[in-house]
Amino acid sequence: MRIGILNSGGDCPGLNAVIHGVVGAADQLGWEVIGFRDGFEGLLPPGDYTILKPKDTIGILKMGGTILGTTNKGHFGAKIGKGDIAEVPQDIVDKAKRTMDQLGISALIIVGGDGSLTTALQLYGQGWPVIGVPKTIDNDLSATAMTFGFDSAVTTVVDGLDRLHTTAESHKRVMVLEVMGRHAGWIALWGGIAGGANAILLPEIPFSLEKVAECIKQRDAQGHHSSLIVVAEGAKMPEGDIVTVHPNEGGEVRLGGIGEQVALQLAKLTGKDTRSCTLGHLQRGGAPTALDRILGMRFGVMAVKLAKEGAFGRMVSYQAYHVDSVPIQEAVNKLRLVDPAGELVQAAKAVGISLGDE
Ligand code: F6P
Repeated sequence: MRIGILNSGGDCPGLNAVIHGVVGAADQLGWEVIGFRDGFEGLLPPGDYTILKPKDTIGILKMGGTILGTTNKGHFGAKIGKGDIAEVPQDIVDKAKRTMDQLGISALIIVGGDGSLTTALQLYGQGWPVIGVPKTIDNDLSATAMTFGFDSAVTTVVDGLDRLHTTAESHKRVMVLEVMGRHAGWIALWGGIAGGANAILLPEIPFSLEKVAECIKQRDAQGHHSSLIVVAEGAKMPEGDIVTVHPNEGGEVRLGGIGEQVALQLAKLTGKDTRSCTLGHLQRGGAPTALDRILGMRFGVMAVKLAKEGAFGRMVSYQAYHVDSVPIQEAVNKLRLVDPAGELVQAAKAVGISLGDE
């Protein structure tokens, strides 16, 4: 038996842990693993791949990125924005299938986010033996309670806030930290709470900068002359639109810039010295946390188990401390967003964190 694995979409700490899990579990069954390079692109003839044996994955568990490479561009982009789905052209699918057949791949493990899993679903609809493994640092796939990479991203946010805290205090400044989170504010919310932010601004909760300024002024009045504000890149300014400083290159909008806008407005409203900082891809790079290593490895092992059972069209899923699976169909196009009335948001408010809405 020969199985394939590919990573697709943005990279994410823990991808190598998945590869480690897949290769280790497949080897126990006497199976060979083919790793396709640069996502689905590696399937295009003549095929860009490498045979992965346990000796090739020694030491990768602790490494960030992916030894296979990945891409969120190329011939297989199925998702072009929130809710907009474009099918992969049939001639591309056919070419890729020829590589699968020539190599005798009897299961293909696709490690990807919403867009890549949408492609996986299209391929499954044409009879491909696919198994999905969810991947996103944003942690916004509804069919899994957690994705690997999220904990590592949150840890980076917390480290950033710890560092900003000391310089903010020294200068009695307001520091605004922009973090990733396109549609969902999980990274901002978890990172902000754990890093001691005073206000957290999310895509899911419309905010007023006057309310945030009020919170900063109140803190000043209480003798706390510095404040930390976390804003998710996908949060919308009160006028309503998402913010980007990047040119429109077609496809999904490249976000970025809201942190600086929030900082400028808060400086005006509070009269305080204010600076912004964007964490950007620091959140995606570097070594995965212990949690992400273990989660990634377990996801890889479960993917091989599903291949053994012939449970194609399913995606590995984490629910209630247990790794299981769901149909890919249930997983795509359904985002898991922060519930403004949910327990986590209420807990943040209960300890005095402003969400900019009240
Ligand atoms: O979806 C994951 C994510 O990290 C988003 O949070 C972010 O908007 C996007 O990817 C960045 O993508 P790229 O690496 O293509 O700039």
